[in-house]
This record gives sequence, structure tokens and C-alpha cells, in this order.
Amino acid sequence: MRALFAGFFLLLSLPGLAADLTLTLPSGTRTLTSAELLQHPQLQTVEIAQDVAYKRPMRFLAIPVAALLTGVKASDHLQMVALDGFAAELPAEPLLQSTGSRAWLAIEDPTQPWPKLAKDKSGAGPFYLVWTEPQVDHIGPEQWPFQVVSIRGMASVAERFPALLPAKDANAEVLAGFAQFQKNCLACHRLNGAGDAQFGPDLNLPHNPTEYFAGDFLSRYIRDPQSLRRWPQGKMPGFSPQVLSDGELQQLIGYLRHMAGRKAL
Ligand code: HEC
Repeated sequence: MRALFAGFFLLLSLPGLAADLTLTLPSGTRTLTSAELLQHPQLQTVEIAQDVAYKRPMRFLAIPVAALLTGVKASDHLQMVALDGFAAELPAEPLLQSTGSRAWLAIEDPTQPWPKLAKDKSGAGPFYLVWTEPQVDHIGPEQWPFQVVSIRGMASVAERFPALLPAKDANAEVLAGFAQFQKNCLACHRLNGAGDAQFGPDLNLPHNPTEYFAGDFLSRYIRDPQSLRRWPQGKMPGFSPQVLSDGELQQLIGYLRHMAGRKAL
């Protein structure tokens, strides 16, 4: 009889059933399992017209991200960290709002796993940040982290990483470029050794790309990395004009050029 029971419990704890989400917030640290999150009173089905990770319409079981962010203020800053070290930097404000673009934490049901992102790849689970009406507040593709394992409250990027800051007398274009850098690049790249990402190369040390990309090759690279260097394992996504307008791209490059003169030695 006991053996029968043990076998029964073994069956209940099959692999895949125990995905954890760790929340480190001003209100404290807690870990929630996907099973607990799938019981959340605000759980609902969310339709995503143009899913960023799957590149097609998708439907997820999800809860409003705001429902998890106890004690978080609009002026706070959050980081969502994925299995592969991708660390999306997110101002809390759009995550908390209930109008305009809305943020949802999609939860993979281990008994009905999501499809693979590509052949030889795993899916977007266990947790994935998706947005409804992303265009309203200009939410970019780097604000859709997938395979999320933790959400952490943090001080702002500027406070945590002074080595990323432009000079005090930097002009408005450079400051705007710094904002674009945080929104689009910092999730994968460090600069001056500063940042939490471990995915792409440092963009200032030992050399800044504005120092060795001639002509307009840097903007062409950012638009479409494979147009410059093509190999199957290339991981950097291209940034289309819808994501980063020509003006914003020039601001971003202006920030990078400015930082070439501010190397952390
Ligand atoms: C999803 C992660 C990711 C994002 C976001 C990203 N990059 Fe990259 N980037 C990479 C990786 C990885 C490489 C190394 C080449 C590769 O695998 O594609 C790279 C390479 C580069 C290089 C080439 C460096 C060299 O000398 O070969 C530049 C320049 C660059 N990135 C700039 C940027 C800028 C600017 C942004 C923001 C607009 C950005 N990247 C956003 C991942 C990313």
C-alpha cells in the first residue's frame, strides 16, 4: 500500500511541474511556483495580436504584472532576468498602469507546454512578459523578456552604474541616446564594464564601435547585423525604424560616440 502511495506522489512531481518565479521587491522576497500562479484570482486568457518571441498571434494564460508588484512605485525600476542571462531593464511605470499598453506575465502550464521558439530551441516559458496594445506607449521588443526566472526591484540604471552616465554638460541629444541605449541595448550589452547583461560584447571596452566601424556601417549593423557579418549563430536582433526611428538611432550613436571619450580605465 505504501509503495503504491509513494508511486502516486512520484507521478505528481514529474519534471516540469516546478518552475519558480522569484520576486525581490521592496515588500520582501518570495518565490511563487507556476502552479500557484495558475491559481491566481486575476488569471485570464490574453490574446496577443503580434507576439514578439513567436512572431505570430498567440494566446496565453496571464496575470497583470501589476498584481505581483506589491509595494512597487511608478518611479521604481525593475529588472526581469531570463534563464540565459538576458536582463531586461524596465521602468516600473508602464508595468503598473491599467490603461494604454498593459503588461502581463504569461504563465506556462507545465501540462500544456508552449511551442518551441524555433527548431532546436526551447519555448518562451516558464514565464514571459507580454503586452497588449504595445504601440500606445511605444513598448519595444526588448521589453518582452521570455524564459523569465526572476523579477527584481532595483535603483535606477544611472544610480547603479555611474560608468554609463554621459558627462554632466552633455547635450540633450546625447541624453536622449542614453535613454535609447537603456531601452534597447543594455539588456544584452555592458558598456564601460557596467551593466548586468552577459550576452553581447562590451560596447566601450576595450574599443567603442564608433572607433572602428567606418562610414555608416554602425547604423547599418544596428538595423541588420547580418547585413554586415553573417554567420548562423549570430544572436543580435536587428532594430527596424518602427522600433528605433532614424532620429533615435542617430541619438543612440551620438551617445556611443560620446562614451568613447569617457572610458573607464
Ligand atoms: C538580444 C541581445 C542584444 C541586443 C538587444 C543588442 N545586441 Fe548588440 N550584440 C549582441 C550579440 C550577442 C552580439 C555579438 C554578435 C552576435 O552574436 O550577433 C552583438 C554585437 C554587437 C555589435 C558588434 C560588436 C563587434 O565589434 O562585433 C554592436 C556594435 C552592437 N551589438 C551594438 C548594439 C546596440 C547599439 C544595441 C541597441 C540598439 C544592441 N547591440 C542590442 C546582442 C544584442
